Amino acid sequence: MTYKAIIYGAGGHARELQFQLQAEGIATLAFVDDFRSGFDIEGIPVLSREAASSRFLDARWFVAIGDNAGRKSVLATLRNLGLPAGSFISSRALVSPSATISGAAQIFANAVISAGAALEDNVIVNFGSVLHHDVRIGADSFIASGVTIAGNVKVGSGAWLGVGCTVINGTSDHPLNIGDNVVVGAQACVVSSISDHEIVVGVPAKPRSH
Ligand SMILES: CC(C)(COP(=O)(O)OP(=O)(O)OC[C@H]1O[C@@H](n2cnc3c(N)ncnc32)[C@H](O)[C@@H]1OP(=O)(O)O)[C@@H](O)C(=O)NCCC(=O)NCCS
Repeated sequence: MTYKAIIYGAGGHARELQFQLQAEGIATLAFVDDFRSGFDIEGIPVLSREAASSRFLDARWFVAIGDNAGRKSVLATLRNLGLPAGSFISSRALVSPSATISGAAQIFANAVISAGAALEDNVIVNFGSVLHHDVRIGADSFIASGVTIAGNVKVGSGAWLGVGCTVINGTSDHPLNIGDNVVVGAQACVVSSISDHEIVVGVPAKPRSH
């Protein structure tokens, strides 16, 4: 049965998710914004959470917030309220049958999730990113578009990988580890493990100078 969607968020990521849902024939009933409402985006109303949840009882909810902490917090609130948080996997993504995708994932068009890869809860993989064999992505992480992660890489929770960055492979005995809450800048090339909370940029990726 085709469901109808409510998208929590009304920014760029939310509009991109709506456009993909539409391509799959899934209607978006409303965007939800905590700070502004009472207008529409391309004919879809922007409502408060209270208004959307009382008006649309059977919709599936998607949290379209790129900021990891914000997305985690809103998802927890929705679950506490008993509102059904959905996963979106584009029909244009290629997902291995041996990959595991948990919880409220968003896998955008042209992403590849390869053999043995595993994504924990609330991970976003944006347009055209490739996660090779045995890549593991921790909960609440965001993989921007055009990212390539080679095999045997473990990414912690709350990590944020910027557009077009590349991560070289680890090995099955010694995965390359990107820590919790790490930020990898756009177009960086990660060639060794990164400690929790680091912000790295450049080729090869190094901690930012300030
Ligand atoms: C790494 C990043 C998060 C840092 O953001 P920031 O803290 O606002 O950084 P600033 O713009 O203040 O720049 C700080 C320094 O880092 C450098 N820098 C920033 N991003 C860089 C990058 N991707 N590669 C190389 N150097 C970078 C800046 O040139 C600046 O250098 P300087 O101190 O010598 O002048 C950000 O620049 C970035 O790459 N974001 C990714 C954006 C993205 O992928 N968006 C996708 C949305 S879907």
